Amino acid sequence: MVSLTRGCFVALLYAFSAILTNTAGSRVLELSDRFLDIHKDGQWLVMMYAPWCAHCKRLEPVWSHVAQHLHATPIRVGRVDCTRFNSVATAFKVKGFPTILFLKGDQEYAYYGDRTRDEIVKFALRLSGPPVQEITKPQSFFTIKKDRDLYFLYVGDRSGVLWELYHRVANIFQAHAFFYQSHPTIVDKHAPVENVPALFVYKESSHYNFTGHNLSDIDKVNETLYKWVNAERFPTFPKVTRGNINQLYLTNKNLVLAVVEENQLEEVAPDMLEFRDMVESVIKSKREKYHDHFQFGWIASPDLVNNIAMMVLPLPSLIVINTTTNHHHIPDDETEKLTPHVIELFLEQIRNESAPRYGGNSWLVRIYRSWFEMRTTLASMWRGNPILTGVMFGTPVGFLLLICYGSFCPDILDANDEEDENASSSHMKND
Ligand SMILES: *[C@@H]1O[C@H](CO)[C@@H](O)[C@H](O)[C@H]1NC(C)=O
Ligand SMILES: *[C@@H]1O[C@H](CO)[C@@H](O)[C@H](O)[C@H]1NC(C)=O
Ligand SMILES: *[C@@H]1O[C@H](CO)[C@@H](O)[C@H](O)[C@H]1NC(C)=O
Ligand SMILES: *[C@@H]1O[C@H](CO)[C@@H](O)[C@H](O)[C@H]1NC(C)=O
Ligand SMILES: *[C@@H]1O[C@H](CO)[C@@H](O)[C@H](O)[C@H]1NC(C)=O
Repeated sequence: MVSLTRGCFVALLYAFSAILTNTAGSRVLELSDRFLDIHKDGQWLVMMYAPWCAHCKRLEPVWSHVAQHLHATPIRVGRVDCTRFNSVATAFKVKGFPTILFLKGDQEYAYYGDRTRDEIVKFALRLSGPPVQEITKPQSFFTIKKDRDLYFLYVGDRSGVLWELYHRVANIFQAHAFFYQSHPTIVDKHAPVENVPALFVYKESSHYNFTGHNLSDIDKVNETLYKWVNAERFPTFPKVTRGNINQLYLTNKNLVLAVVEENQLEEVAPDMLEFRDMVESVIKSKREKYHDHFQFGWIASPDLVNNIAMMVLPLPSLIVINTTTNHHHIPDDETEKLTPHVIELFLEQIRNESAPRYGGNSWLVRIYRSWFEMRTTLASMWRGNPILTGVMFGTPVGFLLLICYGSFCPDILDANDEEDENASSSHMKND
């Protein structure tokens, strides 16, 4: 009996390893085009990569950690070299490298967030379970509060209008937030439940409830709930990056950003830190007043906002972006003169539309913005590698090549940039 099971096991293992070969020392499965036959079985987190892509190389250690972390879950973590297995790239419509996909049966989700271990792991864990996960033990709340800095919680039975709508919205946002359901006796002291059903979002160690809805008007609640979840799924003062800025645009609020700069070690200079904390204090102390119309945050890569503002902003500085119209507002006062009070006046002016606004979405502005982006990209390429940039522009073919690269592998441009920074930091160490 034992030998029979073992025999089966060995055979199974053998069959399996014919499809997959383990990368040495890592839990990441190196997949081939035979992945196309099995990708609908179970859950997969796969990275589509190309060996020449610098961003893929940088993701490699992160990916091993992700695999390590998800080892005890049903999620299998793998990667596909799309230069060797082109059919896989075609089947999944891969447009750039690396592309991170979560696959579950017929469902397919692409990951656009920051490529850090924690964010990728959370993405996979959210999608791994059902859209709304049930909490059945009071103790679980301690673990959940510790592991999840932000989650939604529905308290009540799995029936009724609010539950239906909650479930539907959870389905839409499953890749972006954790959604739970539990009962009053289990929630106990973990959330301020007065009546059921109740709905909360947990962040920064507090629960905020969903109120002001009238359950007899289903369409209205449907809309309000969607907007509420979409707005509440961000921390009060998140760090805004290339990975999440597009999501923040979907809030349709004004983005109030403290712009600072961080060095290689992700450290921010003390004066900038002070400014950032001052901006944070505005939203922390006046959450009720500003929350509906303004999403606050801070940004540590100034070029991201420079491209939006179409100018080089001083550091630190404050910028407010209207995410529906793409207009931006910059306070008249110099940064040193900004206090919470001045910022509040400025936000009021934005609300009553008396603050001057710049930019927008007109074609003229868009052309100018593209031109500005191209100029700054070229400038940073020049700083990174003057010879290569010179050669590229010395020949028309090079120019064409650059445009092709720019559209097919947009990452490659800033890859140059970052490598340059690494090089200069090692110079500094040598000095
Ligand atoms: C929800 O919050 C409001 C005020 O913010 C409060 O009056 C109400 O009691 C809360 N409801 C629950 C169920 O906690
Ligand atoms: C909810 O809406 C219905 C009609 O849409 C109205 O009759 C009722 O008074 C409202 N309830 C509350 C508490 O506002
Ligand atoms: C809620 O609104 C969405 C569109 O935003 C719609 O597709 C869905 O059917 C609505 N659900 C209900 C129960 O009205
Ligand atoms: C963005 O600008 C438009 C047009 O000025 C305005 O109607 C809208 O309310 C603004 N958005 C926010 C969140 O204030
Ligand atoms: C807009 O708000 C600012 C600040 O409160 C105020 O000084 C200004 O008079 C307001 N403008 C209009 C047109 O209401």
